[in-house]
Amino acid sequence: MKRVLVTGGTGYIGSHTAVELIRAGYEVLILDNLFNSKITVLDKIEKITGVRPKFFKVDLKNYMETEKVFAENEIDSVIHFAGLKAVGESVEKPLDYYENNIGGTVNLLKAMIETQVFELVFSSSAAVYGEQATPVYNEEMATGVNISSPYGWTKAMIEQIIKDTAKANPQFKATILRYFNPIGADKSGLIGEDPNGRPNNLMPIVMKVYRGEIPELVIYGDDYPTEDGSCVRDYIHVTDLSKGHLRALEKIKEGVSVYNLGSGKGTSVFQIIQAFEEISGKELPKKVGTRRAGDLPEFYADPSLAERELGWKAKLGVKDAILDTLRYLENL
Ligand code: UD1
Repeated sequence: MKRVLVTGGTGYIGSHTAVELIRAGYEVLILDNLFNSKITVLDKIEKITGVRPKFFKVDLKNYMETEKVFAENEIDSVIHFAGLKAVGESVEKPLDYYENNIGGTVNLLKAMIETQVFELVFSSSAAVYGEQATPVYNEEMATGVNISSPYGWTKAMIEQIIKDTAKANPQFKATILRYFNPIGADKSGLIGEDPNGRPNNLMPIVMKVYRGEIPELVIYGDDYPTEDGSCVRDYIHVTDLSKGHLRALEKIKEGVSVYNLGSGKGTSVFQIIQAFEEISGKELPKKVGTRRAGDLPEFYADPSLAERELGWKAKLGVKDAILDTLRYLENL
């Protein structure tokens, strides 16, 4: 079985993918700088799978340390999650985002080429489609036009860097996965989304409001041209998303392939809140506020290419994600 290095493997999507990889029999190594995650996630992964992945506390910005991991560990493939991901913060600190996300990836790719590791799955985002795109989003759409944040730009730029790397190194194979809105937690309830500091995304905020750590949920606008006036997103269960990475690894082919990973279904902010309240049995303190800059009314995937070529499809729904999130909250 392949030996897979997961960068950002103690983070939200990285840890869930590590678990799915181990469950499927892969040998997993994790590299993370622990900037936005906790070392205790390794204990949780061990508890869930019975296996403790080898861990390297390494920052990809440090080339020497990164290359050492490759030189000493006979790695077959890499799944690259490590990066900063707060959209709003990236507008305030663009250089941190370019330094971390672009600089880190360039080092990673250099170390891979240097040590002849030629298989990469990259964690990209639907943000690369930019503001001019309208749903349904498919992989043929232009990227890199009117992207609303430096975060989104780093993803688009990294996609280009990967394509150029593959062009220059014919043995190099890469699959780029563009995620929509990941939510939920592993069914064990032991790992989930636990960002350091104040969260920006809807579900982590809902979780904090539910626990009384944030006094009130603000719905960012109810006057969008959607059915109930709130924004519509394509929420995808993190376990489905993680399994998409396994399929991508199994089916990796020459050159660079790109797939959307989404459910293909739109759910509004009001629908998410209603489902959360119904399932948890608790009403959340909330109010309607003004629109958040850069938000688009509707955003959902055409996931059919991933189904056709990877044999992957989202199986779990928003309700499953909320149930698993509540289980995770009980364990926090
Ligand atoms: C954002 C980014 C996306 C990134 C993703 C994960 C944009 C356009 N998209 O997605 O690139 O990959 O985060 O980090 O920036 N909402 C509220 N109240 C809140 C929080 C959110 O009403 O307190 C609403 C938002 O307006 C939005 C929906 O909930 O309609 C989801 O928001 P969020 O979880 O932040 O994700 P996106 O903005 O879709």
